[in-house]
Amino acid sequence: MMELRIQLIPTGEIIMPPGKNGENYCHSCTKAVGSDGVRITMESALTARDRVGVQDFVLLENFTSEAAFIENLRKRFKENLIYTYIGSVLVSVNPYKDLEIYTKNHMERYRGVNFYEVSPHIYAVADNSYRSMRTERRDQCILISGESGAGKTEASKKILQYYAITCPASDQVQTVKDRLLQSNPVLEAFGNAKTLRNDNSSRFGKYMDIQFDFKGAPVGGHILNYLLEKSRVVHQNHGERNFHIFYQLIEGGEEDLLRRLGLEKNPQQYQYLVKGNCPKVSSINDRSDWKVVRKALTVIGFNDDEELLNIIASVLHLGNIQFGGEDSGIAYITTDTQIKYLSRLLGVDGLVLKEALTHKKIIAKGEELISPLNLEQAASARDALSKAVYGRTFTWLVNKINDSLAFKDESYKNPSVIGLLDIYGFEVFQHNRFSTFCTCLTVVLSSEMAIKDAVMFHAVSQWEPVQYFNNKIICDLVEEKFKGIISILDEECLRPGDASDITFLEKLEDTVGGHAHLTTHKLADGKTRKVMGREEFRLLHYAGEVNYNVNGFLDKNNDLLFRNLKEVMCMSENTILTQCFDRVELKDNKRPETAATQFKNSLAKLMEILMSKEPSYVRCIKPNDAKQAGRFDEVLIRHQVKYLGLMENLRVRRAGFAYRRRYEIFLQRYKSLCPETWPTWEGKQVDGVSTLVKHLGYKPEEYKLGRSKIFIRFPKTLFATEDALETRKHSLATKLQSGWKGYTQKTKYRNSPTLCPSPAVMIQSWWKGILARRRAQRKRQAVDSIRRFIKGFIYRHKERCPENEYFLDYVRYSFLIKLRKNLPKTVLDKSWPTPPAALVEASELLRKMNMQNMVWRYCKKINPEWKHQLEQKMVASEIFKDKKDNYPQSVPKLFVGTRLNGEEINPKVLQSLGNEKMKYAVPVTKYDRKGYKARNRQLLLTSNSAFIVEEGKLKQRIDYASLKGISVSSLSDGVFVLHVPTEDNKQKGDVVLQSDHIIETLTKVAICADKIHSININQGSITFTVGHGKEGTIDFTSGSELLVAKAKNGHLSVTAPRLNSR
Ligand SMILES: Nc1ncnc2c1ncn2[C@@H]1O[C@H](COP(=O)(O)OP(=O)(O)O)[C@@H](O)[C@H]1O
Ligand SMILES: [Mg+2]
Repeated sequence: MMELRIQLIPTGEIIMPPGKNGENYCHSCTKAVGSDGVRITMESALTARDRVGVQDFVLLENFTSEAAFIENLRKRFKENLIYTYIGSVLVSVNPYKDLEIYTKNHMERYRGVNFYEVSPHIYAVADNSYRSMRTERRDQCILISGESGAGKTEASKKILQYYAITCPASDQVQTVKDRLLQSNPVLEAFGNAKTLRNDNSSRFGKYMDIQFDFKGAPVGGHILNYLLEKSRVVHQNHGERNFHIFYQLIEGGEEDLLRRLGLEKNPQQYQYLVKGNCPKVSSINDRSDWKVVRKALTVIGFNDDEELLNIIASVLHLGNIQFGGEDSGIAYITTDTQIKYLSRLLGVDGLVLKEALTHKKIIAKGEELISPLNLEQAASARDALSKAVYGRTFTWLVNKINDSLAFKDESYKNPSVIGLLDIYGFEVFQHNRFSTFCTCLTVVLSSEMAIKDAVMFHAVSQWEPVQYFNNKIICDLVEEKFKGIISILDEECLRPGDASDITFLEKLEDTVGGHAHLTTHKLADGKTRKVMGREEFRLLHYAGEVNYNVNGFLDKNNDLLFRNLKEVMCMSENTILTQCFDRVELKDNKRPETAATQFKNSLAKLMEILMSKEPSYVRCIKPNDAKQAGRFDEVLIRHQVKYLGLMENLRVRRAGFAYRRRYEIFLQRYKSLCPETWPTWEGKQVDGVSTLVKHLGYKPEEYKLGRSKIFIRFPKTLFATEDALETRKHSLATKLQSGWKGYTQKTKYRNSPTLCPSPAVMIQSWWKGILARRRAQRKRQAVDSIRRFIKGFIYRHKERCPENEYFLDYVRYSFLIKLRKNLPKTVLDKSWPTPPAALVEASELLRKMNMQNMVWRYCKKINPEWKHQLEQKMVASEIFKDKKDNYPQSVPKLFVGTRLNGEEINPKVLQSLGNEKMKYAVPVTKYDRKGYKARNRQLLLTSNSAFIVEEGKLKQRIDYASLKGISVSSLSDGVFVLHVPTEDNKQKGDVVLQSDHIIETLTKVAICADKIHSININQGSITFTVGHGKEGTIDFTSGSELLVAKAKNGHLSVTAPRLNSR
């Protein structure tokens, strides 16, 4: 059966109903639907939006605060969320570790999805540009900027990979894709090097065009390179390396090859490789990289790289040429070894080369003048040659790659283009040199573009005016004809006489000294002067001040190669060199352009290319200088936020609008939300959009309608609309699904061989219909519940409102259900589930009620004997708990009715009790008042009196009414004293007794005599009356076992056993 699979994907274009012939319309689904089926759920879109910080700085409450900005970056960085937007600008923080976010699944997730629907990613930028190129037919470019090591090159590689994997492809296209990808390792080998900041730093600027055909398949590419850092060929700072290719060749080259090139397998042998003093780096494997590069060379069509390698080897040999002649002032070459190799590898005459390296030829007024060079001049001529050879070979290589990437189909004239600009790593040091001066220009211009871009849209949307720093003033200062810094520099380079870096600085002071954005040591005020060197000038960029040291400006700008060296190269038999050094150049007597002018021109060309395209921006940030994962160096980051102009960017964005959409795209996406525009709007697009937003309740200050786009000011407006669409899509999807199912069933029915179905089939189909409708209804309800639930969850901390009603009720309900299952079963079980906020009070009431209920049920079950027992235990607890050491041991032992039954008591005694009923009897030990002799006695309790009994005699009767009190120690002994009034002649004084069941005995006495509060528990000792006003003392101590004896001081000494629990 044919089935329409409805994918719940916010693609911008939703699914169309089936066509007349039952075709499966799923407009743009092939593009939008990933292999993993339903890719975006409402929930993930919502949580991503809510989770860590804000994913778009535009949503930052305090958008002017740099601290808030950086805090948001930090929060996200800590959670490995390295990407954040400022509107459509992507800010990326280098994680310095592999995050699992570049898989094929991730690519699928971003395909065909709008920016704000998924969390920020470089793929979103790539996809957005791709889609704009396809739908709006406008060329795109992606500008990637940031300091060296911030991740620009990685970002551009990720974009390239995204296109290579997600774009449609045929066999021929596959070759182009491979070449696009493989051009990278080759360019990196020749143009990248290890620097202090980045082990694989691109030392050239690169702009790459990717060309796409009408099907959206990549069919070609073109690379523009500029400003290769040629000085690196001859010199490297400490801790840095020359270009990778040299080390790769030496480490990885096969023996035969190295022998042919005359090279040794040891980089230390080469002057051009030892300056930075770090030929080996742990993160770089030159040997395996060599293999990768050679393979890549074959993929992009270099089947024979012999001549290329000859040139690389020659540069190393050139570096090893030594000059003598210090004394005479005329340089000569000390050994011929290098010249021999050079002559062979470059295919030049050795003698001519030797001559050219030590002499210079100048043409003045048509005459050739040859003069010898001194030592210093010769060394610099040699280095100039090395730089020129390497630099031009690099450009040749780029051209060669371009040939291999070129789109060959003549019939297809205008491919669409996406450009990738990886702007050369720009770092601001405390003292900056010529190269920084050049690269900083690029950055100034590109941020200028970004801000212009934002301001332009801002102008269209006509909200309040925004102040921003106009970079033009700096651009003019640098570039202007005759008066700009570059012009002044060129003039100093060209003029006859003794021009030097210092005269250039002076000229600068004379010409533009008064400019508000330039100052020098001489012109600066006292405070600034302190932080500036004498050879420095300072530019005030919009982001701050940068000092440039003029030392070397003239030399680097001149970049001169003596004519005779050029001539030698023109005669080379190496075919690459013949292409690099054109004889036409020799005929042209004009001075070559200076480095700054060349750079300015290529930059102007680049700007022209960029301006004709729709730009997207990626701003890369380096979190620390140590290339360490997880470290967020705030000072360093603040510095970059400043120099990348991010706060400026945000301010401009916020002053304007957050989002803009073309009318047709907006209408297409949201038309289902308004009855007038759904399913189709017949009138003008702008009217459709207007009707739609009015229906959605947009307020006038929330949006503006431009010429071709709607501008939406606040992201929240758009989010609300998105949410509405999400809800709507679910109901639409269900409707379409049921429509489609009905349709297919009907078709099947019509096409069935038996045109007139039997009643059974009819009943069957009717019944199936009922079942399907029921099922659909259940699904609808389920979707509704889930949606309500998620919404409720998000609003759960708000006051009760329609959005969270369902959720809050659910939470209560589930708490109560859980409670019912887990109610404590005994009074001793104190567990109780934690209630939700709304039920705290109720939960407490319920807990009390449950406790009362358990107690009530327990009490109901108690029989009279047990009740009596418990009452006595209660009394015992009241008297002894926490006061007498052996009380805890008595708790589990039941109190008995009596310890002596009828037979154990002498019948005479019972007789003399007469009518008094005996309530309790217990054997006790009595101690004499004098002498403290121990005697066995019985203690009997009746309702009125206690009796001390010896054998058949009632020895002593103590009426409860006359019992003054009872004393007992706090220790574990069983000794107690019954205090009686001394004035009573019948009594001979207080009675000292000892019982083995002291707690039980005294509890009984206390109850019978109603003397609960007359029991004194004493520490240390008890004093008692002996009779006739005399007193005795009992001392209590703890010991290993019970001992009662008369002590030397005449006191009764009681040693009570220590209990384990104490
Ligand atoms: N997205 C990323 N994920 C993981 N590591 C990265 C990422 N971006 C950059 N890096 C690391 O940082 C290093 C420097 O990045 P690179 O793109 O060469 O910097 P840049 O081109 O800005 O100088 C890379 O070699 C890589 O180790
Ligand atoms: Mg780079």
